[in-house]
Amino acid sequence: MSPARPVAEESALAAVAEVLSCPECDRGLSPADRMLRCEHGHSFDIARQGYVSLLTGAATKMSGDTAAMLDARAAFQGAGYFTPIAETIAAAAAAGHTPGATEVIADIGAGTGYYLARVLDTIPDARGIAFDIAKPAGRRCARVHPRAAAVVADAWRGLPVRDHSLTTAMSVFAPRNPDALARALTATGRYVVVTPTTRHLAELIAPVGMVTVDPDKDRRLAEALAGRFTLLDTTTVEYPMVLPRADIANVVAMGPSAHHGAAAGERIAGLPDTYEVTASVTVATYAPTGAPD
Ligand SMILES: C[S@@+](CC[C@H](N)C(=O)[O-])C[C@H]1O[C@@H](n2cnc3c(N)ncnc32)[C@H](O)[C@@H]1O
Ligand SMILES: [Zn+2]
Repeated sequence: MSPARPVAEESALAAVAEVLSCPECDRGLSPADRMLRCEHGHSFDIARQGYVSLLTGAATKMSGDTAAMLDARAAFQGAGYFTPIAETIAAAAAAGHTPGATEVIADIGAGTGYYLARVLDTIPDARGIAFDIAKPAGRRCARVHPRAAAVVADAWRGLPVRDHSLTTAMSVFAPRNPDALARALTATGRYVVVTPTTRHLAELIAPVGMVTVDPDKDRRLAEALAGRFTLLDTTTVEYPMVLPRADIANVVAMGPSAHHGAAAGERIAGLPDTYEVTASVTVATYAPTGAPD
């Protein structure tokens, strides 16, 4: 017997199909039977798990996070440690919302879809699109929220959306492509960018070899967005988290330190039962340059 069709996931995709564009010819896409199709006949199957892949061309070298990294990330997020960050992101997204307007909110490098789901909970009629290059992320995002559509795409190749079709975009610990975002956002759109400060998880650098945050990151971000975006607002969210070893293992396994695997495991075993670690991120809201604020 074939598995049941993921009806809710397909309807979330159908609801944003008009916003998506064909990665082969840039035309609009329409929902058809279990696929999205453009008027030139390019078609993209909706996977059994409810996501659509709009990746084309040669396989990209960047395959994104693995299923194991996403499992660890989901477990850590599910334990609530990043709730204050999610709340600040949701407030930032809601601040640009005009009641009654139909929002289309894209999360670039959405991972588990955790933050997009919180944002969609805050803005009741908004439609969401979770973009990620990793198929395991597509699978997760397809079921993270009834109004979230999951699209596998490479942000570095540009986003497969119509010009000026997104009211909000967000990049949370994820790649940023300012040119693609400037084209994709409406003139009054908002771009919410979340980056770790140098204090984020810093207590784990020495004991478990956690990767350090580049102290120059803020300057590089400002440079990358300069000319295309104007900073409207920035909030630093910083607080202590008391983590048992299992959650330290999750936080290590969900990030770029994951490949230090066995060695990190031994080091985690040597930590006290609980260990205090700082969460510290900047939530910045940008508007496309020239847009009214
Ligand atoms: C550090 S994770 C953050 C995930 C999520 N935003 C969160 O904070 O929970 C970065 C995510 O970006 C995705 N990613 C990496 N390169 C990408 C690309 N070129 N295009 C789209 N997504 C990408 C990864 O697969 C991964 O899910
Ligand atoms: Zn096409």
